[in-house]
Amino acid sequence: MTERVVLAYSGGLDTSVAIGWMKDKLGVDTIAVSVDVGQGGEDMDVIRQRALDCGAVEAYIADAKDEFATEYCMPSLQANGLYQGQYPLVSALSRPLIAKHLVMAAKQFGATTMAHGCTGKGNDQVRFEVSFTSLAPDLKCVSPIRDLSLQRDVSIAYAEEHHLPIETTKHNPFSIDQNLWGRAIETGFLEDLWNAPTKDVYNYTDDPAFAGIPDEVVITFEKGIPVAIDGVKMTPLQVIQEMNRRAGAQGIGRIDVVEDRLIGIKSREIYEAPGAMALLTAHQALEAVTLERMQLRYKRQMVEPAWSDLVYEAQWNSPLKKSLDAFVAHTQEYVSGDIRMEMHAGRAVVNGRRSEASLYDFKLATYDSGDSFNQGAARGFIELYGLQSKLAAARDGKYGKGITLQASSL
Ligand code: ARG
Repeated sequence: MTERVVLAYSGGLDTSVAIGWMKDKLGVDTIAVSVDVGQGGEDMDVIRQRALDCGAVEAYIADAKDEFATEYCMPSLQANGLYQGQYPLVSALSRPLIAKHLVMAAKQFGATTMAHGCTGKGNDQVRFEVSFTSLAPDLKCVSPIRDLSLQRDVSIAYAEEHHLPIETTKHNPFSIDQNLWGRAIETGFLEDLWNAPTKDVYNYTDDPAFAGIPDEVVITFEKGIPVAIDGVKMTPLQVIQEMNRRAGAQGIGRIDVVEDRLIGIKSREIYEAPGAMALLTAHQALEAVTLERMQLRYKRQMVEPAWSDLVYEAQWNSPLKKSLDAFVAHTQEYVSGDIRMEMHAGRAVVNGRRSEASLYDFKLATYDSGDSFNQGAARGFIELYGLQSKLAAARDGKYGKGITLQASSL
């Protein structure tokens, strides 16, 4: 039997041409697999038919929207996943899931090699290939663009010559990747760091400069997972869709950054992730009242950045990532309750929180009479807490390095 390749098929020009190109160069048959992670756009059946028309021997669509929401976006929300403190990992989250469906298809259709449409300069090639081999160590990988010199002009010429049913004239100035958790836009005039993004860059968000009336929302969490909006029970997929719609209408979640790619390049990226950013704001606010302070500090300072780096850097299936998942899951035990937020003009501002499992104690915190806090205990605490500072200051004095207390003359 002719050797079979499973291709991550987007329906675009490059992966459409890759089907015939790999047949010509490698003599292989292609099984085209498209995974629906909520990217919207073209109808998946149209994409499937196009793969067959371009010569795929099998074409297969996997509806992974619920799985993506539940198994990928929700853990990232619980971990407050933000690469370099800003990017909610949109593309980085989808790659391991797409890879999983591709590997399942490879087993089903007896393929030995995996193919994707990534170039040699980005993170996604690494995420796909590391995911493939971490799920099925024996699989081989090929990237037609990177390994078989399938450049853009070559693709256009090939598609025209072979009359492939794909548009070759429409020139999109950007490279876009989008899914349920957000949208990533790069290249084109954005490569000049001084150029501000133009209005046509955005699609998930309305311009926050022209804000409508404020939108107040109540999000109910159970163990770090949003389970209802304004009292209406929803699945993770429905929550994300609803928040994308409402936060998007308020222009929330536009991000313009220069980020460090895994392969060493610094690159300009525009993201829009309205639902994700609003949910992250709410989740963090609920953690602030339900996590014990050392657990909260350790999670924020150590675990969240490490988790985000691992996911960004293609380590979704790695042992360390799994260990950190267990840590994060444990922290979410009491992250249950309601967050009220006003969404307006590009900002989601929390203005109410309530939780049965809160560590906030009104009687301890209040400045009114009737507080239960023993103020006298603070005195002894401070004496011991400040002990080492006192010793260090005395030592500085002895060595003539004490803090100068004279006011500086004018
Ligand atoms: N830089 C982002 C990441 O590595 C987004 C990449 C998305 N790809 C694209 N063609 N826009 O996760």
